[in-house]
Amino acid sequence: MTAQDRSHDAARLRVEELRSEIAVANHRYYVLDDPQLSDGAWDALMRELRDLEAAFPDLVTPDSPTQRVGDAPLTEFSPVTHREPMLSLANAFSADELRKWYQRACRLAEADALELVCELKIDGLAIALVYENGRLAQGATRGNGTIGEEITQNLRTVRSVPLSVNAAGSVPRFEARGECYMTWSGFERLNEQRATAEERLFANPRNAAAGSLRQLDPGITASRPLHTFMYQVGWVEGAEAAATHWERLEWLARLGFRTNPNIRLVPDIESAIAFTEEWDSKRQQLDYPIDGIVFKVNAIEAQQQLGFVGKDPRWAIAFKYPSAEETTRLNGIGVNVGRTGTLNPFAILEPVQIGGVTVGLATLHNEEAILRKDIRVGDMVIVHRAGEVIPQVVGPVVSLRTGAEVPWHMPAECPVCGTPVVKPEGEAMTYCPNRLCPGQAFRLLTHFVSRSAMDIEGIGEALAQA
Ligand code: IVH
Repeated sequence: MTAQDRSHDAARLRVEELRSEIAVANHRYYVLDDPQLSDGAWDALMRELRDLEAAFPDLVTPDSPTQRVGDAPLTEFSPVTHREPMLSLANAFSADELRKWYQRACRLAEADALELVCELKIDGLAIALVYENGRLAQGATRGNGTIGEEITQNLRTVRSVPLSVNAAGSVPRFEARGECYMTWSGFERLNEQRATAEERLFANPRNAAAGSLRQLDPGITASRPLHTFMYQVGWVEGAEAAATHWERLEWLARLGFRTNPNIRLVPDIESAIAFTEEWDSKRQQLDYPIDGIVFKVNAIEAQQQLGFVGKDPRWAIAFKYPSAEETTRLNGIGVNVGRTGTLNPFAILEPVQIGGVTVGLATLHNEEAILRKDIRVGDMVIVHRAGEVIPQVVGPVVSLRTGAEVPWHMPAECPVCGTPVVKPEGEAMTYCPNRLCPGQAFRLLTHFVSRSAMDIEGIGEALAQA
């Protein structure tokens, strides 16, 4: 044995030791949210590993923690056909709909009662991770359920995605499914950075997560605050999967995946309904968006008996909380003149139901907000309406663009009186400078007679206009 062989052997041993220490530390930090090492100690381990790998390049393996970032940008994503289709979920909007679903499931499964697993419905993007001999072999999006996109190199940069799992010997191949998402705080921080850099803002954490995962350059994905919760075993090859969904979730957690801590096994539908009520208020405290609760029949045998209709399994259902947001088309942008002469752009929408109310108009604030969010006429846009507040356009769904969308600019003249508009330096608002503008006079009068001001009854909008 030469001196060089000896140092190579020593390096190999040390590299393995470092990787396992880093893997344990990462699991504690990113999966269990319970850090064990200080940042400095972690940095020192990573630095030593990187130096050794630089000195002995043949020791670099794809599941080394140094390999999370570094792949070259792609020119396009490859399609992936899912071995088992990634199903969607039927929705229920009330306790009664949940009871009906449950009664039917019990009848079809010939059971008096069925245990249910209650899970939060994370509002992100569904992903599928394939492991071969314990190593992450492929990561994909759900796509249309049958064919998704291969985004392995992007998913490798997400810290809670294990590059290798503790099951190399026992389960040769399997697929874990779950949600990749962004926290509210991560989303807000990202948008602040983007505002400073004058980049287009993301409309919500879900769009931000989707946009971050569908980056051809994994370096960009790596810089985004993405997280995962795994909630389903897709398929298992060469081993027997557990007989209940609950045990499968426990298995995923044991392998090193991040699973949601707020899951519960309940004996019947009434306890499941209680779970939806409990989370209706508690969900405000979560730092990640959920849009409902998912119920899954626990026994896999009963699941198989129940099968599915179309793309929806009969053994699972999503309870949806009333949403404050919907997506609809922006048909046009109008401008009205405010009381103080401000020109206020408003959205003319394809009418959409939000929380039981039809919304056809929404505010767009001002021209800067439209440009910053890159809202174009013809876009599919996300509209937010909460309580009695005026509905707002949150932003466009860029992935739904066809190319026919048209950017918008504030007209150069007041749409009511035709006077050239002014935009004071450093201000977001544009004004009609004509103090006699009929648009302004009308607003001023309706404001003056409104309940909040003088409360003069009998002068409605029609009279004020006259
Ligand atoms: S189960 C048949 N569980 O919801 C099982 N889905 O509307 C199908 N989702 O595409 C998925 N949290 O993106 C499941 N705990 C959860 C979920 C969840 C979020 C998403 C997922 C899926 C969509 C279906």
